[in-house]
Amino acid sequence: MALPVVSEPWLALPGSPTRRLDRVLEGLRGVDIVNLAAGRPGLAPPGWLLEAFHERLIKGGLAPFGYTPSGGLREAREAVARDIEETGGPSLSWREVVLTAGGQNAVAAVLHGLRGRHGRILLVEPAWFAYEPLARAMGLEPLYVESKPPDYRIPEEPLKEAVERGVDMILLPDPDNPTGRLLTEGEARLLADLAVDHDAWLVVDEPYRTLVYEGSKVYPAKLAPGNVVGLGALSKDPGVPGWRLGYAYGPEEAVRALERFVEFTVYCPPRAAQELAILYFNDERKWEFRRILREEYRRRRDALLGALERLLPRARVPRAPAGMFLYADLTGYLGGERGVTERLAEHALARHAVLVLPGEAFGPSQAGRLRLTFTYEPPERLVEGARRLAEAIQDFKG
Ligand SMILES: Cc1ncc(COP(=O)(O)O)c(C=O)c1O
Repeated sequence: MALPVVSEPWLALPGSPTRRLDRVLEGLRGVDIVNLAAGRPGLAPPGWLLEAFHERLIKGGLAPFGYTPSGGLREAREAVARDIEETGGPSLSWREVVLTAGGQNAVAAVLHGLRGRHGRILLVEPAWFAYEPLARAMGLEPLYVESKPPDYRIPEEPLKEAVERGVDMILLPDPDNPTGRLLTEGEARLLADLAVDHDAWLVVDEPYRTLVYEGSKVYPAKLAPGNVVGLGALSKDPGVPGWRLGYAYGPEEAVRALERFVEFTVYCPPRAAQELAILYFNDERKWEFRRILREEYRRRRDALLGALERLLPRARVPRAPAGMFLYADLTGYLGGERGVTERLAEHALARHAVLVLPGEAFGPSQAGRLRLTFTYEPPERLVEGARRLAEAIQDFKG
């Protein structure tokens, strides 16, 4: 008797690289490891928010435990809309916002709900590692344009050529994961114009939108409101990744399609996190919390960058103006042969107890590069992590 069929595309998906590392870490319990790989916040949400949340649960009767409408509570959608506008984004009605079960669920919703006649999407390499597997599993073909060191700017001509081949959407994070790049006004305009000229979506994935240390975030949705969908999450700010709340905003019709996706996959976004979103986004104290968060993360970024510059002078590491990561080009030490950074990462963990994420996770051309998280560990541990990494590179045999 044959086995019943297992869906091939899903079975064939490589696991998420951060999940693979979680499994390695599980086997190393008790070992003092400096974790530069996890894309996690390093500060807990503020006490006032947790107290308000507690009170809302205690005094709310049955309501805070119930289902919500498929796209989320109107009050929560209004709160997200308000925050987007207050931080420099477009002015939105609650009907132009849909809540999802985490940021990754919002990515799945757009890939599924905004696919068009071409069946192709355009990604910028290095590209966040969830995009390609998810697109492929949904039967979409990813095309790539490559952004290059030292500053990983969006390459104009290759971008135009790729969009002219016909794509349903351009999908990229801003601020970027892994490079920390923040789109310039010119890049945002170029992307938005291309989307308009070719009847494509521009999907800007913005979970790091409030973690900007220098410069300011441009919201492409203000430039081409009919063609841009923005995505976000509460995972990085206020920092509740396990509570799984994300969102998408854009034209009402697109939002209605995404709402259906949420309805038939999770029924409604997590209620508890919606309650938290209402309390956080509507409270003036969020500004003070964000100021503290940014100050601390900037300090951590500078500590890690300073240590890398001192210990690995041939590394090329842009000073990420936003986000959670430094993206280190180590080809000056390692070369760029495929697989070399994966082997280095294994060696660094096994022999030097430092966990890093290999560039290969962000595309085949990314060998020789590493993504290093600066938000999770405190400054002195970041410096220690850089020291361990430098030692690992020194005695790495290839
Ligand atoms: C670019 C990007 N998009 C989406 C997400 C997903 O966020 P969430 O943890 O809310 O699923 C992440 C998280 O690391 C991310 O880096």
